[in-house]
Amino acid sequence: MEKKFHITTFGCQMNEHDSETLAGMLLERGYVQAKERKDANIVIFNTCSIRENADKRFFGTLGQLKKKKLEQRENFTVCVCGCMMQQQHIIDTLKSKYPWVDVIFGTHNIHELPTLLDNLYNEKQKQLSVLEEGGEIVEGLPAERMFKHKAFVNIMYGCNNFCTYCIVPYTRGRERSRKPEDILREIKELAADGVKEVTLLGQNVNSYKGESETEPGTCDFTDLIYLIDKVEGIERIRFMTSHPKDLSDKLIKAFGECKKLCHYFHLPVQAGSSRVLKQMNRRYTREAYLELVKKLREVAPDIAISTDIIVGFPGETEEEFEETLSLCEEVRFDSAFTFLYSVRKGTPAAEYENQIPEEVKHERFNRLVEVINRISAEKNSQYVGKIEKVLVDGPSKTNSKTYGGRTETFKLVNFRGNPDMAGKIVNVRITSSNTFSLEGEVVTE
Ligand code: SAH
Ligand code: SF4
Ligand code: F3S
Repeated sequence: MEKKFHITTFGCQMNEHDSETLAGMLLERGYVQAKERKDANIVIFNTCSIRENADKRFFGTLGQLKKKKLEQRENFTVCVCGCMMQQQHIIDTLKSKYPWVDVIFGTHNIHELPTLLDNLYNEKQKQLSVLEEGGEIVEGLPAERMFKHKAFVNIMYGCNNFCTYCIVPYTRGRERSRKPEDILREIKELAADGVKEVTLLGQNVNSYKGESETEPGTCDFTDLIYLIDKVEGIERIRFMTSHPKDLSDKLIKAFGECKKLCHYFHLPVQAGSSRVLKQMNRRYTREAYLELVKKLREVAPDIAISTDIIVGFPGETEEEFEETLSLCEEVRFDSAFTFLYSVRKGTPAAEYENQIPEEVKHERFNRLVEVINRISAEKNSQYVGKIEKVLVDGPSKTNSKTYGGRTETFKLVNFRGNPDMAGKIVNVRITSSNTFSLEGEVVTE
């Protein structure tokens, strides 16, 4: 019987990229990828635990498979992996309520999937492989990219920051950086395969510390950017995510010097009040954050800045929330991901006594979104009339004549295109703007 797999991914780019690796490994071994979950006989869920509704969505979707699994037994395989599997209470729930799941593996065991499946089929026994802490970084794994022309590249794993609300340090372990040579080798191979844009991934890329094999001393994040800037074929460099406390002047300067470094910066602020930031263990103040924004705009006046914001962190007062609103007005973010604070078991903030009532959180959330969206729309309207370089992703899902792509500043642009344009950088004149996207027409001369 043909082995047809389907992966459902929850969570961040880190998880998206892990799923690309899982798919790459299975395809290399002759498995086939199903377009939809219903057509697969091996179903994989790559989970996220960042907020409570991520957990809930996973269990809801998993529950829908019970009937099929009990009917088809060994002809249908269910695998679960990702950040949720790094928590004992989740494993316990799976064992007691979802005992029909075949394979469970953690974030440090991604490379084991093919072996776990072999073992499952040979031994006819359920497989569980979860390591608490990551060991040596496994190099050379294949990845089935979502796009031909752009790619994610992990430069480091884990997080050492322990923001008091966040589960990631517990699910991804301590920081480990790849060697600069390994990263460069991968990026050169990607360029040879037609990739024009790389997004460097890490929970806190600013604390990248690569130990070089040949050059003495360590290679920091900015050194790495300068090295990648020289790789032929690569035209755009992006990265995710930066922590304000580690954003160096050296990196800011690189925005003026590296031709390929896109003028877009995702810089999560989380809150506008220095007291709340302290409670969050973010280790910067409101003033320090504003200073970073100012410096970035001095070096690159056209830079787009986006952020993440949490509302309703334990103890946040109305006045402190208003400091978040005023910070948004001051910075004028191009866009922002806004989140209701969600209690994560095992994190310090989960134990804080002054939790904010749900209705207060929602009320603040709505006020914040209004400010964010108004500013996003204003920022986007400034693009009207300009000609932007757009890397074309391809046709839209709903209309085959409408193409979508991104400006250097990561703005989504829709325009009438043709199949020849996919994967290329084209000039687009912006004709109108919306809150979350721009409309334009391709300039041909
Ligand atoms: N490493 C990145 C992002 C990690 S998670 C960083 O430090 O910025 C992405 C975002 O999820 C965070 O920036 C934060 O805004 C949000 N987040 C994390 N834990 C959360 C929680 N418990 N409740 C609500 N939002 C949370
Ligand atoms: Fe979580 Fe903070 Fe680490 Fe980001 S830096 S992953 S928010 S602990
Ligand atoms: Fe979620 Fe894990 Fe990413 S918790 S946000 S998938 S690191």
